[in-house]
Amino acid sequence: MNKTIHVDLGERSYDVTVGPDGMDTLVEVLARLEPTRVIVVTETNVGPNCGALLTHLLDEQGIVPEIVVFEAGEVHKTLDTASMVLDQILTAEPAIDRKAVVVALGGGVAGDIAGFVAAVTLRGLRWVQCPTSLLADVDASVGGKTGVDHASGKNLIGAFHQPSAVCIDVESLRTLPLEHLRNGLAECVKHAVIRDADLLEWIAERADSLTMWDYDDEELAFDATEMTELIARNVAIKAAVVSADEKEAGERAHLNFGHTVGHAFETAIGYEQCLHGQAVSLGMIAANEIAVRRGLLGVACRDRVRAALEALQLPVTLPADVDAAEIWSIMQHDKKNRGGKVRMVLASRIGEVDIYDDITEAEVSAVVNDMKS
Ligand SMILES: NC(=O)c1ccc[n+]([C@@H]2O[C@H](COP(=O)([O-])OP(=O)(O)OC[C@H]3O[C@@H](n4cnc5c(N)ncnc54)[C@H](O)[C@@H]3O)[C@@H](O)[C@H]2O)c1
Ligand SMILES: [Zn+2]
Repeated sequence: MNKTIHVDLGERSYDVTVGPDGMDTLVEVLARLEPTRVIVVTETNVGPNCGALLTHLLDEQGIVPEIVVFEAGEVHKTLDTASMVLDQILTAEPAIDRKAVVVALGGGVAGDIAGFVAAVTLRGLRWVQCPTSLLADVDASVGGKTGVDHASGKNLIGAFHQPSAVCIDVESLRTLPLEHLRNGLAECVKHAVIRDADLLEWIAERADSLTMWDYDDEELAFDATEMTELIARNVAIKAAVVSADEKEAGERAHLNFGHTVGHAFETAIGYEQCLHGQAVSLGMIAANEIAVRRGLLGVACRDRVRAALEALQLPVTLPADVDAAEIWSIMQHDKKNRGGKVRMVLASRIGEVDIYDDITEAEVSAVVNDMKS
């Protein structure tokens, strides 16, 4: 059974549908949008599997999409790739008009590029997101952030552009590499810590079944109903936070829990060695440790979060060569800081967090050094 979550953003509101028939929902959405052209933007890992299914379904409805494929991977989330996609859209016949619809098919990288291209083509085309990684399902699919990276940093070029709809087909996750599933699970733990203590228990109890791998078929063996519930609960949390604060003036910053130190770990350890979700896992451990030392958070709560991350086989200790001074220096340059102060989101119990902008180097150094294995 599909579940639908409404993202309430006034006239920019939209629905996220999640379930085993997500692709069918896309067909329904496109019928409603009545596009003059459908442009599917996807990448080389996802295109061969999900792209073929999608074209087949659209074909049955008499829709012939144009498929634009770019090279998979964060290193290709650039203006050059966006420009290549734009070239294809703008030079194809018949000429593009504002009733065309862009479909983003892939993980967060495809969503960010396709959404950005939709935002800037003719000053804004409608777009529909079909996320195929857990991280994109539970995080990137809600909020309308689109964009590309620049040599000086990630996500520095972009726009807010809400999609017309998000269609999540849980079956498309089957081929996702296990480490990328875990990556998304780290963001689910984050959502649980900031808003929903029950969700943390729910995830911890199902850590094995959610991450089960079928060695014969070489694909994920999760139960579709369980995965649907996981994604729907997480989308609902993110939707509630984003609806309350679309442009990140206040509450939306809670979503940065585990990310201030996490980003610094990601940079220091290197993007190749440390996936985003792994860095967020380490960042959550660090944030909770700081909260415990400030007397904000009880050790039992800290330990429950750590146990959940360990059960999901996400990292909780740092490599010995991570340098605390470097971590602090990177944190000071985080674009989300205000007025030169280092801000962090800290938990006071599971499901409740607040923003603190008085984080000190001594606190961070002590915790970083203690987290080394
Ligand atoms: N816009 C937002 O609000 C938002 C939020 C969070 C993250 N992001 C962005 O999302 C990106 C990270 O997302 P991601 O982890 O999905 O990265 P990704 O798109 O690179 O996907 C991860 C890997 O999984 C592969 N993949 C994806 N779906 C697959 C499938 N179904 N089968 C097989 N392989 C599959 C991809 O080819 C890639 O190798 C970052 O660029 C980040 O900045 C954006
Ligand atoms: Zn994240």
